[in-house]
Amino acid sequence: MRIPLIAGNWKMNTTVAEATELVHDMLEKLDKIEGVDRILCPPFISLAVVGELLKGSSIKLGAQNMHFEAKGAYTGEISPLMLTSLCEFIILGHSERRWYFGETDEIVSKKVKAALSSGLKPILCVGERPEENEAGRTEEVVSKQINCGLSGIASCPDIVIAYEPIWAIGTGRAASGEGAAATIKFIRTCLASLWNKDIAQGLRILYGGSVTSNNITEFVSQPEIDGALVGGASLKAEEFVSIVSQTAAIKRQPV
Ligand code: 13P
Repeated sequence: MRIPLIAGNWKMNTTVAEATELVHDMLEKLDKIEGVDRILCPPFISLAVVGELLKGSSIKLGAQNMHFEAKGAYTGEISPLMLTSLCEFIILGHSERRWYFGETDEIVSKKVKAALSSGLKPILCVGERPEENEAGRTEEVVSKQINCGLSGIASCPDIVIAYEPIWAIGTGRAASGEGAAATIKFIRTCLASLWNKDIAQGLRILYGGSVTSNNITEFVSQPEIDGALVGGASLKAEEFVSIVSQTAAIKRQPV
């Protein structure tokens, strides 16, 4: 049984004061929802403060990126060693990192290895660009991202995959539930070839891209989809709580 998971990726939003306020606004309700893992991923500078606020709650914390080296002359970077005492999860290979900051599959793979060996749980993001989608190249693109991103890595139940088609991110144009489920099913076959079927069946795969409280049920009612990586809608307390509680209600029902 895969435990559903909803993660909020705040991206480059919220000052420390705004992050504090956002957590205050959602903490009590979010904490009470059972049956779904809930993760908040604020900017680096708010990790410590948000971590303090979440202490004693069932909500987990994640970071949005990291360098693969433990330390050194990498001005402005944050290392896995700095994160392990602060958070449990780490988003890696987000398309905004790949396309705005030139992260290659090779870099992403080094980051996944570094995360696992430091005890951080990676949320590895994959997804195709609009032109790749239109050219029918989605499977080719995501299989390369999965195979390269996880190459040389022993299977680990802590790895989470997020399928985020780039054309759906921040556009208000979400994928269809069926379309997302089909690609996620394909990703599971890639994981089965890389490791084995049982491991692939056990790993959680999320959908991300314009998820809101109005469309979350379309995704989580698909048995293949284990939850969502939420951007914009995770910055509104009520909206995020609603996404998580609808997920809990749907995934609680026997299939
Ligand atoms: P939006 O939910 O704002 O489309 O962002 C999705 C995303 O990139 C989450 O990582």
